[in-house]
Amino acid sequence: MTVGPVAHGGHCVARHEGRVVFVRHALPGERVTVRVTEDRQPGFCRADAVEVLDAAPDRVERPCPHSGPGRCGGCDWQHVAPAGQRRLKAAVVREQLTRLGGLPGEDPLVRDLAVEELPGGPLRWRTRTRFAVDRAGVAGLRRHRSHDLVPLDDCPITVEPAARAVLDRRWPGAGAVDVAVDSAGSVTTTRLDRRGRPQSTRVVGADGPAPAGRAARSAAGRDWEVEGTGFWQVHPAAADALAAAVAGFAAVAPGETVLDLYAGAGLFGGALAPAAGPAGRVVCVEADEAACAAAAANFAALPQAEVWQGQVDAEGLTGLLAELGTGPDVVVLDPPRAGAGAAVSRVLAAAGPRAVVYVACDPASLARDVAAFAEGGYRLAGLRGFDAFPMTAHVECVALLARP
Ligand SMILES: C[S@@+](CC[C@H](N)C(=O)[O-])C[C@H]1O[C@@H](n2cnc3c(N)ncnc32)[C@H](O)[C@@H]1O
Repeated sequence: MTVGPVAHGGHCVARHEGRVVFVRHALPGERVTVRVTEDRQPGFCRADAVEVLDAAPDRVERPCPHSGPGRCGGCDWQHVAPAGQRRLKAAVVREQLTRLGGLPGEDPLVRDLAVEELPGGPLRWRTRTRFAVDRAGVAGLRRHRSHDLVPLDDCPITVEPAARAVLDRRWPGAGAVDVAVDSAGSVTTTRLDRRGRPQSTRVVGADGPAPAGRAARSAAGRDWEVEGTGFWQVHPAAADALAAAVAGFAAVAPGETVLDLYAGAGLFGGALAPAAGPAGRVVCVEADEAACAAAAANFAALPQAEVWQGQVDAEGLTGLLAELGTGPDVVVLDPPRAGAGAAVSRVLAAAGPRAVVYVACDPASLARDVAAFAEGGYRLAGLRGFDAFPMTAHVECVALLARP
């Protein structure tokens, strides 16, 4: 078959005998032979390109020997040149924002989006990974859309110390292992049981054992404390790039009130607090207790920044806004993959901030929430995309929403 455009999820779309086929391991415009891998729905099936008859110019040899049809499912675009991967990601963001977000394709912010490269190259960027472990205690990653584990002796997108810490040994009795390497080189491994519950954590510093539980990260010109394997941008250059993009869109002025929702260890709130100054106020909201404790430590020298532990949902937000007394000037939100949702977006739009800066790891969720903010009068006023996950189909976006 001849392969059509790229779609959200790491595959391209093709048509065969009236049916839609989601094809992995292919590129738009290629002629390929496919093997059907899943055929459960009347409208579409899934397939892997197993033979390439006419290759696209962006096709390259896969640098990882474990990737390819039927093999490790960790990466989607190992067969694509890095610049081509970024073009695919930009096409996906465009398609999601127009189809789900209701934005016109001719909007220059959407039409001209280029996904930006981060420093460091396409391999050895993953500083945090969850590896699965089989019954024999061997670590690896799962096949695409499967529970089958592919044993690995290396994962070339994972930084060397993290790959070595997990893949050079057996993990008898474990179901998975989380590993994270911090900016100082200390390696935290957390062993999880078969239900995903943490069993034990080990921290090994660059020069010997480091204090348990905390990792050091640097971004936005300073150091940050993070819980060992707790949330922090996975790509070592991402936190810095995103914090700069957020600060550029937020353009916080002295005395302004900033809300940082889904704040993690306080990266964005902490980066914006100096601009708000002593007369300003930065309120970070985060559900996870350990992340809140790390954020509080990160704000030690920033009395204008505070941490509220709680759920971001429509009810909680309404209460928080009432308690704040004054509406926020700027809202930064960085929700998990599912997005903030229409209810939260509506409450935020009703609060009337001057700027909403939305950091998104899923363009579909971003698009749906952009549509919800549009109902409250907010329009897309800025958009950047970052290749924070090379070799995979994932892309990080930062969007500015404002009232015209
Ligand atoms: C994508 S991370 C962003 C963290 C931070 N902005 C950063 O860049 O390091 C999302 C964060 O939201 C938190 N979270 C998820 N759902 C939440 C909710 N409903 N309310 C509050 N926090 C939530 C998670 O614990 C996680 O720390």
